[in-house]
Amino acid sequence: MSRQTAGSSSSGKDVIDVVEDFAYPLPVTVICRLLGVPHADVPEIRGWTDEIIASVDLTPGSDEEGRRATGLEARQAMGAYLGDLADKRRDDPADDMLSALVHDSGPDGPLTKTELMATATLLLIAGHETTVNLITNGVLTLLRRPAAFRQLREHPELMPGAVEELLRYEPPVHLLPQRTPLADVEVSDVTIPRGVPLILVLASGNRDPRRFDHPDRFDPARQDNQHFGFGSGVHNCFGAPLARLEAQLALRAALPRIEGFQLTEDPPPYRRSPILRGPRHLRIERVSGP
Ligand code: HEM
Repeated sequence: MSRQTAGSSSSGKDVIDVVEDFAYPLPVTVICRLLGVPHADVPEIRGWTDEIIASVDLTPGSDEEGRRATGLEARQAMGAYLGDLADKRRDDPADDMLSALVHDSGPDGPLTKTELMATATLLLIAGHETTVNLITNGVLTLLRRPAAFRQLREHPELMPGAVEELLRYEPPVHLLPQRTPLADVEVSDVTIPRGVPLILVLASGNRDPRRFDHPDRFDPARQDNQHFGFGSGVHNCFGAPLARLEAQLALRAALPRIEGFQLTEDPPPYRRSPILRGPRHLRIERVSGP
């Protein structure tokens, strides 16, 4: 860590926290700009987001009640903040999603204030949290695998497929905790009865050996890669095209800059969540190169 430098514009830093310096700023800036949320408020948004994410952690212990209460407060605070911003767009619309949400009359009429606050909160959180993890998981996976790193440096056209492979191999959303079948469902000779609470482990399906050859191998050139990284069915991720684009651009831009870097610790420290998987920090240091 002591080798951290202010860095000249040509050489950059010798030690980087990929989360803080790269993976977090891009998606949060993009979603704030799309929604029409001032970038100056990002620190507050980050605080609320962390508390909301911590409150949906299913792991027992560590003050569950307290986390739930703090998460609820954070959700209300973020909703109220976004509701106020949307109110301002009522009389003074701008070219952003909050203005569109506030002025859209939709087939079922305009959104109520509560619906608007919930929708904006979902878009703001879902719109950056998971993409940060996808970019970070990408850097981590590639620094662990020099051959795949080289393959992508030499063949940048493989990047869209490599991002799909990352979504399969290291999905930012590991499981969906609250699903209830509306009818009995037959899966592999097992009947899942109507009404039982289900947890869908997307990450497990992504490594199903009956579906994927060598499922534990990260292969940037993998073909026939229909993964569950964005879920499936009617609730399939609404932001998937944006997330794909951000991850492809970010990783393509990162690779030449982090050539000659290595991880300072492996595994890195992770966020405490069985649902959303991604490092809290990912520190890398220059060992060779410019
Ligand atoms: C790598 C980034 C992302 C990942 C891994 C991801 C993953 C997911 C997953 C697994 C679901 C649940 C699908 C299901 O229930 O079957 C979901 C839903 C959703 N995502 Fe994403 N997402 C990402 C980025 C985004 C972005 C950038 C946005 C918004 C701009 C977004 C907005 C949403 C919304 C609104 C839903 C709810 C859809 C519904 O219930 O109909 N996501 N996402």
